[in-house]
Parts: sequence; structure tokens; C-alpha cells
Amino acid sequence: MSVETLESIKTRRSIRAFRPDPITKDIMQKIAQAASNSPSFINTQPWEMVVVSGKKKDELSEILLKLAKANAPAKPDIPAPTSFPPQMEERSREYGAGRLNTLGIERSDEEGREKLKLMNFEFYGAPCAVFIFMEGSLGEWSIFDMGLFTQNLILAAHMLGVGSCIQASVTIYAKEIKEFLNITEDKKLLVCIPMGYPEEKDKLNVYRSLKKKPDEFMRWYE
Ligand SMILES: Cc1cc2nc3c(=O)[nH]c(=O)nc-3n(C[C@H](O)[C@H](O)[C@H](O)COP(=O)(O)O)c2cc1C
Repeated sequence: MSVETLESIKTRRSIRAFRPDPITKDIMQKIAQAASNSPSFINTQPWEMVVVSGKKKDELSEILLKLAKANAPAKPDIPAPTSFPPQMEERSREYGAGRLNTLGIERSDEEGREKLKLMNFEFYGAPCAVFIFMEGSLGEWSIFDMGLFTQNLILAAHMLGVGSCIQASVTIYAKEIKEFLNITEDKKLLVCIPMGYPEEKDKLNVYRSLKKKPDEFMRWYE
């Protein structure tokens, strides 16, 4: 692994505020080309991606915002977990509280928290949103492959100066997204990834999530 790649892994983080500059087809082609080299179970390469930008993106965002504001029932293709083991629950709480704190939003400020949540459905103002799909008949190993692909996609983007934020939130409206994008219902929508050039100084990009140290997740036997 080159130092450049190591640096890219170390410096990537979720970006939630973007400059308006568009991501050209040429840049997205480069990002997709790099991610196409991802490993997959017996080289099945289950990934499919749809990039939405310009007026199309605004139209889709309007549909999703309307659904979210109306609290339309969530029907994701990949069900959301209902609970996590205590240590993970704690990390998730710490992340939520840390972000709110950086943004100056009180836990009791329901309106502020709702506004923050709704930003998901505007793709955090990114100039484009990338939707990641796979064939619906595929199983867990393919989801594993999709994760590898998605990580490569966002790392390649980061190396080209393009920020991103993986989103599960918007996938609660998978059906409506597929209808809008003319994607058959049998496909599974895994995530949406807003992409664009980071607005570095925006307070939405200030919070840094805490990471476990290797000695917390690695054992060494010899
Ligand atoms: C599968 C998945 C779903 C996520 N969904 C959302 C989301 O809906 N909205 C959001 O703002 N961030 C979302 N994130 C970003 C995580 O909150 C973020 O990766 C985590 O807090 C670690 O921060 P980092 O990416 O800056 O290292 C998601 C990340 C993953 C991997």
C-alpha cells in the first residue's frame, strides 16, 4: 500500500457540508473506475450505482423531504438494526451527543434535531448523490462485497478531493427512490452517498468521530 493510500484512509471522514461546485462526469468516472477494482466473492461484482445531480437531484430531494416531513413509514430494503450490544450502543450515543454538542444543539431541542435529521433528505446540499444498488436475490456475502466497493468508492473520491457521507437514512424511502430512478423494485438499495467538494470550515464538518485503538479490537497470537 502506498503512503498516499494510507494517508487517504487516515484522513477520510464523513462530510456533511459541500461547496456548490459540481462533480463532473469525468471525475465520477475516475472514482467509479478505481472502485471497480474492488474484490468480491468469486468475482461476482454485484455493485450498481446511479448518480443523480442537477435538477434531477433537486426533484428527488423534494420528494424525500416531503415524505420525511410527513413521517411517512420507513420501508428500507435492508432493515435497520433494532439494538446493538451495550458497548456499541454507548459509542453510538457518544457520537450523537458529540455531534450535537459541536453544532450547539441541545438534546432537548427537538426542532433543532429534526432540522439536522432532515438535512439527510437534502443530501446535505451536495451537488450529487450516488445510490448504491445490488440484485435483490443476493445474500450476505454480496452485502459484504458492496461494503468493500463502497469504501473504495469513497476513498477514491477522497483522494481526488471529493468528500462524501454514506447514508442509510434516506434508504427508508427505497421504493420511492427506485420509482424515481426507474430502477426495478427487485433491486436492493443499500446506501446513498452525497458527494461534493467539502466546505471545510462549515460547522457540520467540524466533529471528528472517536475511533477504537487497534489494541481494543486486535489480538496477536504467536
Ligand atoms: C452504513 C452507514 C450508514 C450511515 N448512515 C448515515 C446517515 O444516514 N446520515 C449521516 O449523517 N451519516 C451516516 N453515516 C455516517 C456515520 O455516522 C459515520 O461514518 C460515523 O459516525 C463515523 O464517522 P466518520 O465517517 O467521519 O469516520 C453512515 C455510515 C455508514 C457506514
